[in-house]
Amino acid sequence: MDRFIITGGNRLFGDVSISGAKNAAVAIIPAAILADGVCRIENVPNINDVTIIARILRQMGAEVKSVNHSTLEIDPRPIVSPVASYEQVHQMRASYYLMGALLGRFSRAVVAMPGGCDFGVRPIDQHLKGFAALGASYNLEGGIVDVKADQLTGNNIYLDVVSVGATVNIMLAAVKARGLTVIENAAKEPHIVDLANFLNSMGADVRGAGTDVIKIRGVSHLEGTTYSIIPDQIEAGTYMVAAAAAGGDVTVHNVIPKHLESITAKLEEMGVTVEEYDEAVRIVRDGPLNKCNIKTMPHPGFPTDMQPQFTVLLSIANGTSIVNESVWDYRYRYVDELRRLGAQVSVDGKIAVIEGVKELVGAPVRATDLRAGAAMIIAGLVARGTTQIDEVEHIERGYENIVEKFQAIGADIRRTFVYENSNSKAI
Ligand code: EPU
Repeated sequence: MDRFIITGGNRLFGDVSISGAKNAAVAIIPAAILADGVCRIENVPNINDVTIIARILRQMGAEVKSVNHSTLEIDPRPIVSPVASYEQVHQMRASYYLMGALLGRFSRAVVAMPGGCDFGVRPIDQHLKGFAALGASYNLEGGIVDVKADQLTGNNIYLDVVSVGATVNIMLAAVKARGLTVIENAAKEPHIVDLANFLNSMGADVRGAGTDVIKIRGVSHLEGTTYSIIPDQIEAGTYMVAAAAAGGDVTVHNVIPKHLESITAKLEEMGVTVEEYDEAVRIVRDGPLNKCNIKTMPHPGFPTDMQPQFTVLLSIANGTSIVNESVWDYRYRYVDELRRLGAQVSVDGKIAVIEGVKELVGAPVRATDLRAGAAMIIAGLVARGTTQIDEVEHIERGYENIVEKFQAIGADIRRTFVYENSNSKAI
């Protein structure tokens, strides 16, 4: 079991380069199942979620080759069965994208309900509503979703909730359906646009991605393609907040600044300088941090996946800030950990009230989920003394080389391996 040890207090200086977007990769890799040829996917982040989804595809019969550390070649043609078992999918929430992709290819998908970050109930009713509108029937039994259709046929689908997952799954199922599918109240996240661009590069006809109406005209055949994944908006935001929290001068490279607007706006409101370049942002923070209020919203609103990192930042700002988590019912499990470092945060339902404190003090904590784990790193970087973070496998699901990237900008962070008897050895 790995553990991170951080000694806080170092200001951060230098350059960090952002990897490909996790949430685009975990949609695009299963989407390759729809191709009748080889898909070469570039700028793939080297993270555990990608390793898992690539392994699932291999176990299903696909040929998946790592051409180099950020390029995968996937030949999905040897996959002959639409079944993904619990043993295969349980480690990863986004394996539900196999449903849409297998349904699109075989008109049937038998996929176990996945695992992944736990923010309370994570329903898939909108995914199933979409499949049903395309003419599929489904059965949910023993934790397995069995969805099938004689012929998928395009239809109008209005999503009752703006859902990234449902939008992706319906796109995957609809690209080879007969006729026109219109998704209304669709999610607009950058990774939705990236998936649409990937599908179109295979010969699909997807229009309107990035707006709340996506139109998909089904085609009979999708080809192999070469495609490069967009940079990770949330990884970039995490380093931006870390630089703001620790203070210093950090340039974050390989980003699309437009995707970072809501994050930049909040940092500026807090008194942080953000300079935008074509493919980089520079974060400079010398002075005090101001309080601010945040409400998480679907894109282009403030991303829920940046909420824990900003809560840490607000915990050392002057004054009282309010965070309203409007996307997930419960995404504050990490607050108990943050309080162990001296943060003053009270939570009532979806609202967190944060009283800024002068300093955090290092303590042992754990990563309760991916972004919460990233937030604990940021807290450790500003805390006096040493912070030990356990359960970092959550963090390594979604951040490539996070220890090395932080070390390169001056953070005192290292990874240790902890044996069962809890002796630890630095590696
Ligand atoms: N929802 C429903 N019914 C559904 C689907 C969703 O009620 O059928 C609700 C959810 O309960 C939630 C809201 O709709 O309250 C939004 O859920 P969404 O479906 O958009 O989330 P997701 O697709 O499961 C993706 C990201 C999450 C990110 C959310 C919101 C991936 C693999 N995951 O999840 O990312 O928080 O969108 O932006 O793309 C992360 O990267 O750390 C992460 C958790």
